Amino acid sequence: MINLILFGPPGSGKGTQAKKLVEKYNLLHISTGDLFRYEMGNDTPLGKEAKSYIEKGELVPDSVTVGMLRNKVEANPDVAGYIFDGFPRTIPQSEALDALMEEKGTAVSQLIMLDVPDEEIVKRLLERGKTSGRKDDMDEGIIRNRIEVYKSETSPVFDFYQEKGKAKKVNGVGEIEQIFERLCSEIDALV
Ligand code: C5P
Ligand code: MG
Repeated sequence: MINLILFGPPGSGKGTQAKKLVEKYNLLHISTGDLFRYEMGNDTPLGKEAKSYIEKGELVPDSVTVGMLRNKVEANPDVAGYIFDGFPRTIPQSEALDALMEEKGTAVSQLIMLDVPDEEIVKRLLERGKTSGRKDDMDEGIIRNRIEVYKSETSPVFDFYQEKGKAKKVNGVGEIEQIFERLCSEIDALV
């Protein structure tokens, strides 16, 4: 199996690139943000709980996010691998993911970070907010909070996998196709 973590700040292009990668490598794309938005759209108890955090640009508690991720993985056992997008976002989530993969007889293959400067992120998210319908993309204050949360809670995940020799960084600025090529060279080096 190839199990990738597509990593990077909000608006770094994880979702866009994951969609292209699943076609090429035949992997299952799991975006925890999309799963939360689906639950919110259906006004489920999980959606209601997640909403209170998401609309402030904060993280949903680990136990909730990990439980939802586990359900999604277990509902799709017969795949060539997974692309985790927007997960793990904390060290406890990383530990839970490693344990889950081990339980399934596999492991995280690589974390690849899309590196994008803060000001570019703010610009991209405000632009996306014009059409995404996402409240958390429409308010500069919420966007800046998401960037702060990324720095304080999420960026240690990069070091966590780097210590295991499993973290790579690619330049996330440029044309979509160009960035896709950068990701593919990292992935092709794994297989
Ligand atoms: O990944 P994405 O940017 O779509 O996530 C949107 C929001 O969902 C995040 O800003 C955060 O509030 C919540 N989220 C979370 N934990 C995750 C993934 C997403 O709290 N692992
Ligand atoms: Mg996304």
